Amino acid sequence: MSLRGTTGSRGRTAVDGWSLGTRLFVSQAVVLVASVATAGLVAALIGPSLFHTHLLESGQEAGSPEMAHIEQAFTSTSVVSLGGGLLVALAFALIVTWYLTRRIRRPIATLADAAHRISAGDYSARVQIAGAGPELATLADSFNQMAERFGSVEDTRRRLLSDLAHELRTPIATLSAHLEGLGDGVVAWDDSTLAVLQNQAERLARLARDLDDVSRAEEGRIALDVSVQSSASLVERAVDQMRDRYAAKSVLLVGDADDSEVRVDPQRIAQVLDNLLANALRHTPSGGRVAVSAHRGHGGAVVITVADDGEGMTGEQLAHIFERFYRGDSARAHDEGGSGIGLTIARAIADAHGGRLGASSPGPGHGSTFTLALPGGSDAHPSRSS
Ligand SMILES: Nc1ncnc2c1ncn2[C@@H]1O[C@H](COP(=O)(O)OP(=O)(O)OP(=O)(O)O)[C@@H](O)[C@H]1O
Ligand SMILES: [Mg+2]
Repeated sequence: MSLRGTTGSRGRTAVDGWSLGTRLFVSQAVVLVASVATAGLVAALIGPSLFHTHLLESGQEAGSPEMAHIEQAFTSTSVVSLGGGLLVALAFALIVTWYLTRRIRRPIATLADAAHRISAGDYSARVQIAGAGPELATLADSFNQMAERFGSVEDTRRRLLSDLAHELRTPIATLSAHLEGLGDGVVAWDDSTLAVLQNQAERLARLARDLDDVSRAEEGRIALDVSVQSSASLVERAVDQMRDRYAAKSVLLVGDADDSEVRVDPQRIAQVLDNLLANALRHTPSGGRVAVSAHRGHGGAVVITVADDGEGMTGEQLAHIFERFYRGDSARAHDEGGSGIGLTIARAIADAHGGRLGASSPGPGHGSTFTLALPGGSDAHPSRSS
């Protein structure tokens, strides 16, 4: 029995060899022939002498023509019945094999066809298999889940590329326009031109940095270096980091914390708080107020909130702010350099800590509150790395 694989012109592997039905039938036939041969051999070795003994006991004379005839009849009857039995059994084996093959071959062909469609890039391929037994049903389920996962990875990849192209377009267009203007002498080389060019170059550099983080976040592999930290030190560091920017816009920034401790990667939590405070500053007008506070919550968790009394958000915005590259309309209109990745990364960091990041707002004009729940200092949460 040989199996050779060759790649066909459409990239599909053509396999030579016996079909499933033939293999099943041959294996059944081998078992049947072996059984009948064994039965025949045993009957040939034991049957005649036993039969001969019985004939003598019944009063037949040894060597008489009757006895020879009866023994001849016994032998031919045994051969005919064993042979007939074998033929009937083979016929049954053929029917059963045909039936089994039909039941198995159809779902396998369906699976093979769907797998071929997926290999050709059609991730919508799904299989429905009923009445072929639990093993094939499980295989079909796993296959459908695999197809679903492939499809969503492919969707993410496609959206990421189109979002990326969209994000790159603005800074590149601005840089090109200014460089062209400089070349033509329409734009003067002064501090404001330099600032625009630096701004856009920085925007591109930040996008590249964020993209690395976002792809790690989407694949759930954010490296953490976890240690026990006091909540107060995290809040203090975040407030210190932002103090000057808040002062420049005349927005009041206040922080407070109790004596709770958290098991976190301080750098990563600082990254989350920096983004939340930068967002709050961007969306709070001069004279507004932003408060960061950290307190022990339910079940030993520590809850850090960042609350502002600025622009607030609509329900629609709240539903999307954690999506990659999502920016509220006002943020787009301001074009203040945000690429809409900050909250996606922040939530992935919270998830990686076994925590949770959420947002709420009573509505536009009524401020927003972001809530970061983290495992308390005594909780044993394994550090993850990639
Ligand atoms: N405090 C806030 N008040 C109102 N809207 C907010 C607030 N924080 C976030 N948002 C909305 O959520 C959107 C997404 O925020 P996110 O931090 O992900 O992106 P970004 O700040 O625009 O850009 P990036 O953080 O990547 O520089 C913002 O564009 C804004 O519309
Ligand atoms: Mg942000």
